[in-house]
Amino acid sequence: MTTHFNFDLPIERSTQPGEKWGRYKGRDILPLWVADMDFAVAPVIREALAKRLEHPVFGYTPPWPELVDAVIAGIARDHDWHIEPDWLVWLPGMVSGFNIACRAVGDSGDEVFTATPIYPPFLTAPGNNDRRLVSRPLVLQGARWEWDRPATEAAIGPRTRLMLLCNPHNPVGRVFDDEELGWLAGLAERRDLVICSDEIHCGLVLDQAHPHRPIASLNAAAAARTITLMAPSKTWNMPALYCAFAIIPDPGLRRAYVHAMRGLVSAPNVLGLVATEAAYRDGNPWRLALLDYLRGNCARVMSAVAAMPGLSTTAPEATYLAWIDCRASGLADPAGFFEAAGVGLSDGAPFGMPGFVRLNFACTRSTLDEALRRMKNALTARQTES
Ligand SMILES: Cc1ncc(COP(=O)(O)O)c(C=O)c1O
Repeated sequence: MTTHFNFDLPIERSTQPGEKWGRYKGRDILPLWVADMDFAVAPVIREALAKRLEHPVFGYTPPWPELVDAVIAGIARDHDWHIEPDWLVWLPGMVSGFNIACRAVGDSGDEVFTATPIYPPFLTAPGNNDRRLVSRPLVLQGARWEWDRPATEAAIGPRTRLMLLCNPHNPVGRVFDDEELGWLAGLAERRDLVICSDEIHCGLVLDQAHPHRPIASLNAAAAARTITLMAPSKTWNMPALYCAFAIIPDPGLRRAYVHAMRGLVSAPNVLGLVATEAAYRDGNPWRLALLDYLRGNCARVMSAVAAMPGLSTTAPEATYLAWIDCRASGLADPAGFFEAAGVGLSDGAPFGMPGFVRLNFACTRSTLDEALRRMKNALTARQTES
C-alpha cells in the first residue's frame, strides 16, 4: 500500500548542495545516475532526528543497546539471520568497509577477486590497499546474469585471499540464490578465501520470488569466513548520514578487521546512528510502500526499454537500478548520447563493462516517464536520420 507515503511528490533537490542534482545544475538534464533516491526519508526517521536535535550537545557517542537491538531484530525479521551483538563493527560507510577488508586479509601483493560489472569502488579498493585486483565478467544467460564458474575458478590462484561479493548486485540487480551462494561459499572453502559480502541493497528486493539470503547465514563454515557489510543508507535513502556496519562472526577475523581500521576509520556520526535505530525498528511500513512504488517504476523501465531500438535490459530482482545493454545500438558513447538528449545515466565503463548504462529509477514517476520519453525520442530521431 502506498497510501500513507506519497512517492509522487516532487521535491526540489537542486536548492541543496548534492551530487545527484548538482552535476547538472542549471541544465535541462534529468539526473538518473548516482544511487540515491529522490524521495523524502520515512517520517519515523525525520521524527527521530528532530527529537535528537532538540538536545543541543553532540558529543562522542558510541552505539547504544537499543540501537544494537533494533539492528539485530531487523536483520532477524527481514533475513532470518540471528547475529550476536559482539559480531558488529560500526563504520562510517560501506566503501571504507570493503577497503578495510582488503587491508585486513592477506599481505602486500596478494590478490582480491571480484566479478564485473561492479560498483566502481570495488575495482579500486584492492589497489588502494596494496593488493592486486583479479576480475572476470558475469555472463548473461538468457535474461539472467550468472557467474562464469569455470572462469572464476581458473582466475583464483594461490595468492588470491579475498573475494569481494556484491549481493544483491549493483549494477545487474541479481539476488543470488542459495545454490549460487552455496557454490561461492564452497569455492571460498576450497581455496581458503575470505568473503567480503556487500549487502547494502538487501532491503530493496523487488522480486518476491527471490528473497535475500546473507551468504554468512548459509552455514557455520560460510559464517566463519565472511565479513558481511550492511547499512540502512540505500533502503532508507540516507547515504549522507554515513552509518554502516560489518558483521563478523569469527573472533580472529574480527580482530584482524578492527586492527586494520586503527587510526584510519572514524565512528559513524550520532545522527546516522539515531536514523539507523529508527529505520530498523520502525521503518518497515515505509520500506514496503517504497518497494511497491519501485516495482511500478521498474515495470515502466522494462517496457520502455523493450521499445527502444538497439537497447535491451534484464529485470532487476533487487535495487532501483536498471542495467541497460546498448551494444546493439552502435552508439560509441551511450551515456554521452543520452546526456545530450537530457538524461544523465551512469556510464558502464567504470563498472568494467563499456557499452552499458545504468539507470536509477528511484525518482517520481513523472520524472521517470519524461526521461524515458527523451531516451526513446533521441534513439528514434537517430534512426530516422540514418
Ligand atoms: C554496492 C554498493 N556498495 C556501497 C555503496 C556506497 O556505500 P557508502 O556510501 O556507505 O560508502 C553503494 C552505493 O551506491 C553501493 O551500490
